[in-house]
Parts: sequence; C-alpha cells; structure tokens
Amino acid sequence: MSRQILVTSALPYANGSIHLGHLVEYIQTDIWVRFQKIRGHDCRYMCADDTHGTAIMLRAEKEGITPEALIGRVWDEHTRDFAGFHIGFDHYYSTHSDENRELASKIYLRLKDAGLIEVKTIAQLYDPVKNLFLPDRFIKGECPKCGAADQYGDNCEVCGATYSPTELKNPVSAVSGATPVHKDSEHYFFKLGACEAFLREWTKSGALQDEAANKMQEWFASGLNNWDISRDAPYFGFEIPDAPGKYFYVWLDAPVGYMASFAKYAKDNGLDFDAWWGAESKTELVHFIGKDILYFHALFWPAMLKFSGHRLPTAVYAHGFLTVNGQKMSKSRGTFITAESYLAQKLNPEWLRYYYAAKLNGSMEDIDLNLDDFVARVNSDLVGKFINIASRTAGFIHKNFEGKLADGVANLELIGDFQAAAGTIAAHYEARDYAKALREIMALADRANQYVADEKPWELAKKPEAVYRLHEVCTVALNCFRLLTLYLKPVLPKLAGEVEAFLNIDPLAWDDSQSLFIRHRINAYNHLMTRIDPKAIEAMVEANKQNLEPTPAPAPARHAEAQAHAAQPAAAPVADTISIDDFAKIDLRIARIANAEHVEGADKLLRLTLDLGELGTRQVFAGIKSAYAPEALVGRMTVMVANLAPRKMKFGMSEGMVLAASGDAPGLFILSPDSGAQPGMKVK
Ligand code: MSP
Ligand code: ZN
Repeated sequence: MSRQILVTSALPYANGSIHLGHLVEYIQTDIWVRFQKIRGHDCRYMCADDTHGTAIMLRAEKEGITPEALIGRVWDEHTRDFAGFHIGFDHYYSTHSDENRELASKIYLRLKDAGLIEVKTIAQLYDPVKNLFLPDRFIKGECPKCGAADQYGDNCEVCGATYSPTELKNPVSAVSGATPVHKDSEHYFFKLGACEAFLREWTKSGALQDEAANKMQEWFASGLNNWDISRDAPYFGFEIPDAPGKYFYVWLDAPVGYMASFAKYAKDNGLDFDAWWGAESKTELVHFIGKDILYFHALFWPAMLKFSGHRLPTAVYAHGFLTVNGQKMSKSRGTFITAESYLAQKLNPEWLRYYYAAKLNGSMEDIDLNLDDFVARVNSDLVGKFINIASRTAGFIHKNFEGKLADGVANLELIGDFQAAAGTIAAHYEARDYAKALREIMALADRANQYVADEKPWELAKKPEAVYRLHEVCTVALNCFRLLTLYLKPVLPKLAGEVEAFLNIDPLAWDDSQSLFIRHRINAYNHLMTRIDPKAIEAMVEANKQNLEPTPAPAPARHAEAQAHAAQPAAAPVADTISIDDFAKIDLRIARIANAEHVEGADKLLRLTLDLGELGTRQVFAGIKSAYAPEALVGRMTVMVANLAPRKMKFGMSEGMVLAASGDAPGLFILSPDSGAQPGMKVK
C-alpha cells in the first residue's frame, strides 16, 4: 500500500554557509526520501532557511544591509549548494514568511488558551550602548568558577563550567565593548513542566531511537524547565500577538517552519493541509535532525504540536556529528570544509553521497570522513567495482550485436540472486542503515565482477564459435549492472539517470528489480565516472585553510540543552593573492608582552611594551581594550609586525603592530604562538 510521508531536515541557520557537517543530514534525508519515492510512496521533502534571531540582525547591521536582504542572499547560496549535492527538496522555504508568522501565532494562541503560557519578569544583561538585551554568546567575561578571562556567557572553555551570563565576572558586551547592566523585563514562558505526563507517554510511542529515548529519561530525571519563548525588541523575528515589543524566540518559530514550508507547498500544489497536519492525520511525519537539537524536537516540538491540536511526529531520527580525519572539523587544519569549496574543486558530489551512505547506520554515533579512506573507498567501490561491470561488457554489445541485448539467458542463477536481494536491501534503506545496504550491494557487485572475470568476454570475442556465449555473458552482466544501478539510485541519483540514458530505459523504480532485461537496444557506452584525484582533495583542504583567517566567530553552542541559537562561523572571501616576495617584506616576530596598561583618554587603546629578545623592546598602541584587561596580557606571547613604519599618535609613538583576529561575529582575538617560541623569533 502506498504511504503518504512528509519528511523534513533541520532548517539550516541563515547565518552561515553550508558545510560538509550539515551535508551529513541533508544527504541522509535525501537518500531516504529518494528511496521512498522509488518505492512508489507519496513522499514530500520540506525544508527552509531558519532566518530569525539576534545574530542575523547584528550581522546584517554590520554589513549595512537589511536582515531581509541578508537572508535573501543566504537563501540563494544555500539552495545553490544543496542543488549542487542533488538534495531534492520538494519545497525549500524561509521561516520569514507569512505562512510561518500565521502558524506560529496560531500555535502560540492555542497554547495560551490551554493555559500553557506564563509571563514572568526576569533580569538579564543589557548593553546600554546598543540598547539591546544580550544573548549568552554575545557576552564575554571571566569564568565565575576558575577565573579564566575571555569566556562566553554560557560556559567556560577552560574549565568546562556552565553558568548563566549574570554570573560572569567583569562582563563585557561583545557587540559594543560596553559593560552590560542588569535590566528587568517581562518574558513569556511555555510551561513545559506541565506537559511532562504527555511527554513521558510520547517517548513510548516508538518515534524515537533507543538512544534518544534514554536521553529523554535523563531529562525527565533532571526536571523539565519552563521555556523562555520571548525576546525583547530590537529582534529580527515575529512580534508576539498582543505583546507589543516582544518577539518569538527564534526556536519557537523555527520548527513551525516545517509546517509553513508545507503550507505554502500545499497551497501551490492543491494539497489539503489538514490531512497532513490535523490531529487526525493518517500520514507519516518524519523529522531528520542532528543529535545537538534533540531537546527541541523531542520535548518542545511534540508538546507544541499536541497542545495546539496538531498531529505528532511519527519519527524523529537523530544522527551524529561529522568528524574529519578523526577530529572535530577545524579551520586551522582546513577541515571545516564548505559545500561550495568542495564543488569548486570539481569534486563529484556523488562521491561524498556514497561515502556518507557507506558510513551512516541510523544511529546517533558520530561519523568520520577520513580523506584518504574517502579516496580509496570511492575509487575501489564505485569505479573499480560498479562502473567496471558496464565498461568491460557494453562495448561488445555494440561491436558484435548492433547494440542489442540477447533474447534470453540460459543461466538465470546470478540474476535471480540479484533480484532476490531487493527485499533485504530495501529493509536496510528503510531502517536508515545505508552502510548495510551498500555492503550488500557491493557484495553483489563483487559477484558480477567475478562472473565477468570467469567468463572472459574479451576472449570469447576472439572465437567466432563463442558468439552466442558472448552475447549471453554480456547480457547477464548488464542485467546485473542495471539492478546495481537501481539499488544505488537513492544514493547516486545523477549517475543512475546517466545509466538509464545509456541503457535506454525509463527511470528505474523498485519493482523493476523483478523484471528481466533482454531483447532491448542500448545506447553507446560513454565513461560514467572518473576516479578521485587525491590532489583535488589536498587543494580543497588548502583552500579552506586560507578561507578562514580573520573570522573568529562565537563557537557554536553544540549541546542539546543549549538554548543559544549559536552563530555558525562564516567563511570570509579569499583575498587577492600576493607573491612570496610580497609576504617576505613583512617582518613578523614573536613578542612577549612585558607590560600592558590603560591609556588615559583612549577608549579603545592599550599601551603595550613588547619584548623582542635581542631586538630590544617596542612600545605599541593596540586597539584591543574592548577584549582584554591589561593584567590578563602581561607575560603573554604574541605576534607582531616589527617593521611597520613608526607612527606618531596622540599618546606617543607606536612602533609596530600586534596581530588580532576579528570578523563578522563579535570579539577580538590576539594570536599566541605554541609554547617554546622565544621573543624575537621570526615568523615566516
Ligand atoms: N537552525 C537550527 C535548526 C532548526 S530546526 C527547526 C540549526 N541549524 S544549523 O545550521 O546549526 O544545523 C542544521 C542541521 O545540521 C542540524 O540538524 C545540525 O545537527 C546539523 N549539523 C550542523 N553541523 C553538523 C556537523 N558538524 N555534523 C553533523 N551534522 C551537523 O541547528
Ligand atoms: Zn572556567
């Protein structure tokens, strides 16, 4: 029976580029959706950009454009990148839409009617210069536990403590550098605690993976906190009905964006919205997400749906995080790889789809992209095993049989085994265990290759008496090839399309697995896929290293409980190149900060005395006061430009420059060499 399935991936935040980490999710979802469609189900894949919040507002302001212009540009970039990886959304919308405003307001009002909204006055840190309540990630200060300088408002990267921003010592607004003040404001809360009985019941519905259901038990045990769903103006988002100056927190309207994307799509395609989202809906609703946002999808979202009179998710499938070469994606190592930079190297997107599929098993475990293994695996499986079957046999069909397959085959055993595998392979796809599906498929490919190797069509072709045998062998091999193509089609949609054109057949559907491929004229074979050149991988890693230099962004808060909607680091455009000789003109030196002090009358500057070892000391005025207390700098090692022409400033001579990173996101970061570097050493 045909199923009706609405599938979503998490809505990527409109404040950053799509990277290979994101693609784990969109590729995982897309494979599942394509599989369902090939099976003949009525499956619709919805997504959108997640566009609201303080970070987006501030970024637009910094760029001197409206938030609408910013999210419009990012939407173009995101949809281009997704199309580049063959992610086949049926609709890709934006949370900044009329449909989303209406639905979010409606849901909120229903929750309010159900007695699930309460208003409370709370004190928060406020930037008196920017007139802005500061999100946790836009406040820096000293850790209340260990005293480490320069820590964010929600947790300490030195000792790991978590705390609330009001506990930070000597807090500074990362937006203006001002000292934040405590300010009271009314906030709207969703009473999650009151939904506990329902949520406990819902965890048993089978919608969650075991690992996620266990996580839920931990959350219940530590108690469900009511959820702060409002933010004060100025905020880029939707104003709360009947609450002027109060806006929905971005995470309130973000999941509603799934619904809104569908609402627009339904309107354009004549579908009945309530049949898919009403409390009595008979359709399936399947959310794919990363494990970091489980809290939102397993607690807030089902509670919002339930108590606003909507249907509940059939399944929430969480995946793990991507590591590259066994480590967290890293900008300095060049492994924080954007989708755009992958495609720019002319790397085939289906290579990555195949590799991720080979690693995804439906669990919440992290998955590793090992770049050497990537090259080896794709070259051996896709080119060496799969494509090889066609490239070794198709030519004979043309040369000897005018492009026509045999009228029948005597030995049906091999093809029979290929057909019989359809059920198990389908079950693995359905369970999102693509790793198992591909192992099964590659085992079949091995058997087909063995068959070709045993039958040696190139030798049969030399013997006129073996012409029937040759025809049969090539026909059997191409039957195997056609079935492998079908089984790989959810993973390799573009390649499958090219094979369909070559075999001169209609788009393959799952039921075609049971038919025989004979008495048919095929087209000429053109090479279908090349090997990965490891040099292109190296170039991509290099490109991503250069990409990032001056963009230290707030590190995204990645734990599930984090309510901060963390900014994604944005890749800066690559600068024009310079020659090595240009670079050599800059005399970069390691310096020890011997002294640092405030400069009377200067808002931004600190006076630094830099010790360059044998080269003596230098006085430098540095505009880093907003980010560093002078005491915290004394004794630190850093990097300076030692041959900058001295400049006379109001406060005295500045004899050089220290280097500090800054970017779209707030904050200033001076550089530190690894331990062992000595004052005066040349940096090159
Ligand atoms: N905007 C929210 C989601 C709102 S859904 C109503 C968000 N956006 S995100 O851009 O940060 O992430 C989008 C998806 O990509 C999330 O499911 C997240 O888990 C996933 N990933 C982001 N980085 C990832 C890796 N490094 N590895 C695997 N998945 C990653 O969260
Ligand atoms: Zn600490």
